[in-house]
Amino acid sequence: MAKIGMIGAGSWGIALSVLLHNNGHDITVWSALKDEIDMLNREHEHKDKLPGVKLAKDIVFTTELADAVKEKDILVLAVPSSFTRGTAHRMKEYVAEGQIIVNVAKGIEESTLMTLSQVIEDEVPQADVAVLSGPSHAEEVGKCIPTTIVVGAKTKKTAEYIQNVFMSDVFRVYTSPDVLGIELGAALKNVVALAAGIADGLGYGDNTKAALITRGITEIARLGMAMGGKFETFCGLSGIGDLIVTCASMHSRNRRAGILIGQGKTMEEAMAEVKMVVEGVFSAKAAMRLAEKYDVELPIIEQVNEVLFNGKTAEAAVRDLMIRDKKIEIVHDEDWGEEMMNQ
Ligand SMILES: NC(=O)c1ccc[n+]([C@@H]2O[C@H](COP(=O)([O-])OP(=O)(O)OC[C@H]3O[C@@H](n4cnc5c(N)ncnc54)[C@H](O)[C@@H]3O)[C@@H](O)[C@H]2O)c1
Repeated sequence: MAKIGMIGAGSWGIALSVLLHNNGHDITVWSALKDEIDMLNREHEHKDKLPGVKLAKDIVFTTELADAVKEKDILVLAVPSSFTRGTAHRMKEYVAEGQIIVNVAKGIEESTLMTLSQVIEDEVPQADVAVLSGPSHAEEVGKCIPTTIVVGAKTKKTAEYIQNVFMSDVFRVYTSPDVLGIELGAALKNVVALAAGIADGLGYGDNTKAALITRGITEIARLGMAMGGKFETFCGLSGIGDLIVTCASMHSRNRRAGILIGQGKTMEEAMAEVKMVVEGVFSAKAAMRLAEKYDVELPIIEQVNEVLFNGKTAEAAVRDLMIRDKKIEIVHDEDWGEEMMNQ
């Protein structure tokens, strides 16, 4: 049995607490919000974020960060990405040398262009930081629906330890050394999900959705590989896997915000209606700055930025994607052979 500190009590923190408790671990859940902790202590259910999922009576809920961090075998950092740095900063004084922090949030810090594990390492240099990501909506994990995910860590030992702690007969965990690739896939898929939602909101069909998913992962991999991520990671659970689920599911707040934008709402109106942080909006800006820095083309992500921040209509954005310069789908054209090459 491991002692786990769940830092963050939103949908994902609660779903992972249920999973880890079912696996026989000792769980302490921390939230910055006193009302939330009071509700969890009273109801043993998160009525707003994960209604219908009951929490065992021996899960501890606290607003005392020290109680959730000190002497835990694993800390799971499950706050939305906009709170990652601030929360890590507050955790620092309680984190022991080599203590494991598993980041499960998805995003890129807009001001620094750091991935979230880099942000955590910046704030808590003594920690052993890992990441967990993949196609995994909290609503389904909370109901024990079979799910697969990947853990990325700096050492095999840490990755396999986390794999053992999280793995169950409804939650299959793979390991990977490619922390960067996992995090970039996780953050950038939210931007493509906005595009997929916009296409749905415009009333386009399955062809358009498939095009966005396929060309979207090409963009994500192009930037991710330029930054040092591995090709296989973008073909894996945290890449194409998470992109498929996010573009297809109504559980995705990014897709739902996109649908509203496609129907003619502004980004602000869509965010207000979804009533949750739409992380893809922040990652969209960061992705454009990274594209410039690494000199790669991200046409879909660029058009999402145009719609979100420059007042371009969704219809015009799709049209511009369709009529851009003609391209070859694969990178190299050697396969056509000499005859074609010489023409
Ligand atoms: N929900 C999912 O299905 C899911 C799955 C995989 C990964 N994720 C990622 O996990 C992260 C959290 O997502 P979520 O769905 O739990 O979000 P959420 O919107 O449900 O989380 C909100 C929670 O953040 C916490 N919070 C609020 N204000 C805070 C503050 N000032 N400081 C610190 N914490 C504060 C509170 O516990 C609040 O309930 C995101 O990065 C998301 O992309 C979510």
